[in-house]
Formats: sequence, structure tokens, C-alpha cells
Amino acid sequence: MNPFVGGTERDLAQAVAAWSASLTERIPAAEKDGMIPRDVVAELGRLGVLGICIPEDDGGLGGSAVAFALVLEELAAAWPSLAVAVAVNSGIVAGSIVRSGSPEQRKRWLPRLMDGSGLGAFALTEPTSGSDAAALRATAVQDAKGWRLDGRKQFITNARYAPLAIVFARVGKLDESHRTAGITAFAVPLDAPGVSVGPPEQKLGLKASDTSALSLDDALVGPDAVLGEVGGGFALAMWALDGGRINIAAQSVGIARRALELARTYAKERKQFGRPIADFEGLRFSIAKAESNLAAARLLTLRAAWLRDRGKPSTREASMAKLFASEMAQRATHAAVQIFGGNGYMRDYAVERYARDGRATTIYEGTSEIQRIVIARSLIAA
Ligand code: CAA
Repeated sequence: MNPFVGGTERDLAQAVAAWSASLTERIPAAEKDGMIPRDVVAELGRLGVLGICIPEDDGGLGGSAVAFALVLEELAAAWPSLAVAVAVNSGIVAGSIVRSGSPEQRKRWLPRLMDGSGLGAFALTEPTSGSDAAALRATAVQDAKGWRLDGRKQFITNARYAPLAIVFARVGKLDESHRTAGITAFAVPLDAPGVSVGPPEQKLGLKASDTSALSLDDALVGPDAVLGEVGGGFALAMWALDGGRINIAAQSVGIARRALELARTYAKERKQFGRPIADFEGLRFSIAKAESNLAAARLLTLRAAWLRDRGKPSTREASMAKLFASEMAQRATHAAVQIFGGNGYMRDYAVERYARDGRATTIYEGTSEIQRIVIARSLIAA
């Protein structure tokens, strides 16, 4: 029996934890190569993990946002690069297609996002529009053959693995009085004429997770590539990112948890002044504080996922979870490296990788500053 099918959300997360633990030996080489091995992606597909949030009618596991958060915590605890690749594919990309795709688009793309043959990409960010997503400049012009897209997308996770990218482009000119008008989402096959993927970016962490640029040079896609309504792209991107932010919060929880687990084990083994360093109160207080904040971050994350599962407003809660959990992960990984002392600064110990990987969580899918804006706007009218 496939342990990934059936059972509770916790059973699913435990099955993922057991499977991902088997990858430990392979992580250093993959991080060095800058690629998640294709067979690992294929295995995720075979086990059904990539289809967790895809409805059963579309061939997925029909899991909840809570289940996905628990799974992402486990994947991130094992291998943060893998967690972000899955979060983007199965969260914001597959989620956007489930929400806005036509029956044909669902049939065409969802199997390819689930079967492990590739990982989808979400192409919103551009060189001059990061936090100010509504300022995007990519254009889409309709002609007799379909739509012609032009523009450059930057920092695109999974671009080199992707069968498709959801590309956000502007139909019509930038209208300063209503900046989001005309922004439209397109399901763009990466083998469409005029689409090219740049070389992988060299990053501080998450080195096995692909981050590349995507260029659209008079790229031609069919008339059926529009995802949802023309002009409905910005609202779709924001809806997707509401869910994505819960997933990054879950990733932050996984990263912090494993870094602290490593630090606790080390502190019990490492002896200084004739005693395990775990006996020293300064260190014990550091661990107690970090673990308390970790538990709080997990609860915020699961609260946001629970609300989203029930179709209740969750924008603010998702931003709160992402803000708190990602900043918690900075402090937790910093504390963990400190407990390892000099060893924590060395590549021989995995804890330094968690510190580097965790750094991205306050940045992607909306920086901490953007989360504060979203939270404050929801509490105090803009
Ligand atoms: N859900 C649905 N609709 C929403 C929404 C939400 N959560 N938030 C805003 N909207 C709608 C508004 O109702 C408004 O609609 P109308 O025009 O019809 O009134 C419209 O969108 C514009 O909203 P705002 O006026 O709030 O827009 P803004 O320009 O002030 O920007 C922002 C809002 C929150 C700052 C947004 O730009 C933002 O989230 N920026 C950060 C971008 C980001 O997170 N990028 C991540 C890139 S993806 C990534 O990192 C993935 C990866 O590969 C790892």
C-alpha cells in the first residue's frame, strides 16, 4: 500500500518525513550541483506528494492546506531546497490552475505538475517590480494566433525544471490610476517559441533549488493560455500568495525545528569545562526561548491553513504566520549556529546550511516589510 495515500494529515506528514530522511546522504552533492536530482522529483511524483493539494477529481490526493503545511514542515526539516521547489509547484502554481483554470487547462497541466516529470514555476517578479508587484511591465498583445508576450521575469523558482510557468503580463498600457487593471495570468508552456530560461542564479542558500530568469521575446501562446479572466491576474496572484505565505511559514518552521534539533543533540555531546555544554544555563535558556517561539510559529501557520481550508478570510493570518515564522527561523538558526560554536561555521555541519537556507524565508513570497503592510492595511484602512 502506498503510505502517502489515505490516513490522517499527520500520517501523511510522517510518511514524507520517513521518505525524506532517506535523502540525507545525497544533499551535499545536490547542493553543490545546484540541482535537485530528477529522480527525487520523479519519486515525489510517484508517491503522490506533488498532488497533495490537487482535488481527487483531478487525480490528486485532495489534501488540505493543513496537510500541505505539515508536509512542507517535514520536507524543509529534511531539505529546505526541496521544500521550496515543492511549495512553488504544488502550492502557488497548481493552486492557481485549480482555482482559475478551465477544464481543459486543468486536464492539460495538473497531471504534469503531479507526475514528477517537472516542477512548475510562478513568474510574477521582474527586475523592476519585486515588492511592488503591480508595477510589472511584461506585456501581452492578442493577435490572430493567440497572445504575444514580451518581458523579463526574474528570480523564478523551478524555471529549469518547468513544463509551464504562470506568467503575469499586462494587457494594455500601465494605467497609474488603476495599476492592477489589465494584469492577466497566462499558462505558458516553457517550450513555446520565444520563451527562454537564463542561467541559474548563484545564491547564498537553497542552492539545489533552481532560481533562474525567464525571457519572453515575442513569445507566442495560444488563445487558450489565459488563466481565468483577462485583467484578473493580480487578484489571482494575491490569492495564490496568500496560500504561498502559509507554505513559506511552514517551511520556516521546518528549518528552525531541524536546526534546533541538531543544536540540542550537539549540546548534549559536546563537553567543555568538564561537562556537556547542555548543562550551562545560558544555552538552556537560549534553547527554551527558541523552542517556545517555534511552537508559536507552528500554531500561527496551522491557524492560517485551517482558515484557508474553510474558505474563511485568511490574508492577514497568512501574512502574520509568514512574518512571525520566517523571523523566528532567523533567530532560531542563529542560536543553533551559536551553540555549535566554531563547528557551526563549518560546512562539515549541516547547521550552517539551515542558517543560509532559512535566510530566504523573510524575503520570498513577500518580504517581512510587505507582510507588515498587508497586516496593517487589514487592521487600519489604507
Ligand atoms: N486577495 C485578492 N485580491 C487582493 C489581495 C488578496 N490577498 N490583495 C489585494 N488584492 C486586490 C485588491 O482588492 C485590489 O483590487 P481592486 O484593484 O479591484 O480594488 C488590487 O488587488 C490591488 O490591491 P492593492 O491596492 O493592495 O495593491 P498594491 O499595489 O498596493 O500592492 C501588495 C499590494 C500587497 C504590496 C502586493 O504588491 C504584494 O503582495 N507585493 C509582494 C509581491 C510578492 O509577494 N512577490 C513574491 C513573488 S513570488 C515568489 O517569491 C515565488 C517564488 O518563486 C519563491
